[in-house]
Amino acid sequence: MPLTLLSALRPQNQERLYDLYRELRSADDLSWDRRLDAWVATGHAVVSGAAGDPRFSSVRYPDIEAVSEELRPLARVLSRQMLYSDAPDHARLRSLLSRAFTPRAVAVLRERISGAVDEIVGRAVPAGRMDVVGDLARPLPLAVVCDLLGVPEEDRSLMSSWSDPVAAAIGDSRLDADGSRAASESMTRMLDYLRGLLTRDDGPPAPHTLRALLATGVEDPGQDVDELLANCALLLIAGHETTTHFIGNAALALLTQPEAADQLRRSPELIPAAVEELLRYDSPVQLLLRRARHDLDLAGRSIAAGQTVLLVCGAANRDPAVFPDPDTLDFQRPGGRHVAFGYGPHFCLGAALARLEGVVVLEALLTRLPGWKLDGAPPRWQRSLNFRGLTSLDITFTPGPRDGQGATPD
Ligand code: HEM
Repeated sequence: MPLTLLSALRPQNQERLYDLYRELRSADDLSWDRRLDAWVATGHAVVSGAAGDPRFSSVRYPDIEAVSEELRPLARVLSRQMLYSDAPDHARLRSLLSRAFTPRAVAVLRERISGAVDEIVGRAVPAGRMDVVGDLARPLPLAVVCDLLGVPEEDRSLMSSWSDPVAAAIGDSRLDADGSRAASESMTRMLDYLRGLLTRDDGPPAPHTLRALLATGVEDPGQDVDELLANCALLLIAGHETTTHFIGNAALALLTQPEAADQLRRSPELIPAAVEELLRYDSPVQLLLRRARHDLDLAGRSIAAGQTVLLVCGAANRDPAVFPDPDTLDFQRPGGRHVAFGYGPHFCLGAALARLEGVVVLEALLTRLPGWKLDGAPPRWQRSLNFRGLTSLDITFTPGPRDGQGATPD
């Protein structure tokens, strides 16, 4: 049987995913997949070309009525999010939300991110062991994005309990009725919560939060509040699942390639470049979806109106035509070409924030956990088509003193 994208992405193939991508790409960098009823693009030129090409639409559900009854409430909300919108709605929503991501707004978060990382890592240091995913990669991005939205600490676990089923639905379009219903209900609850939060009358919101930035939008009679809420939910979901996977995947790459980790310890000024290289090397978002608005030609192939093109970012990021020796981590590689944050008008709005989180986390992992190594069972990959990330990553290291204490506790 010829190799297909679906078989490459099977859970049992996660360990050799990039070998399988190489096979797919060498066979053809753009090919029709009958089972998926979609074109599959694996070459960098075609992936980045189509991602930024206005002849393609990002609308995920062009016909909501054709969506299953269980998934329809979720599909209605997703359809209002900028990620799944085209111009001119997309540009309008992006400009509204981008107020929260100006360089100044992101810089303000640096101290809070460092504080949160210090606290989490400091808690693990005396024990000499941690689950990088469960203890750090999951709670940190959630805390950051909740902070951004002004969600109080005691409500964070509610957010992840709603966000996880939605992310599962976005991550795998072959969801059953129960999964679809759970995702729709979770989205409804999240929106109800956010509505309460944005319209809460308990004094002025903290100045750095999106709640403060959007207060004007909520009060503006011309602003559709449901649309605003749908996009706050997007930030919550897009802003934490992806960053969680990035931290886990990056830590795994450095644990399994200790010479790369040592290089960063010796030359910490390379850490920002390492964040980019690690995003390229093992991308949290593997697939983007686009649909042809009309009959068109892409890389010499005829794409019919309405046909779907799956852009395999993970494969494009290992394309030797753009990244020489693509399976090697090289922190001195010329930057700026990976598509881990997408490409074109939908380029990740939270990229600066994700990069900042990546830098702060890598600095802490590399300096505060001497002798770190994988502990016990091999790390397990989460089941998902779109997202690539670990369910846990247990490590041990030399225990250190509790923060603020000189002696190693028992
Ligand atoms: C390492 C972490 C992250 C990765 C790998 C990532 C990846 C991506 C990718 C690939 C896209 C483009 C999707 C497309 O073209 O269809 C995207 C869009 C987006 N991301 Fe991220 N993301 C990350 C972190 C974040 C964070 C922290 C936030 C916000 C708090 C965020 C918010 C968004 C939003 C709002 C969009 C939609 C932009 C638009 O449609 O114009 N992301 N992200």
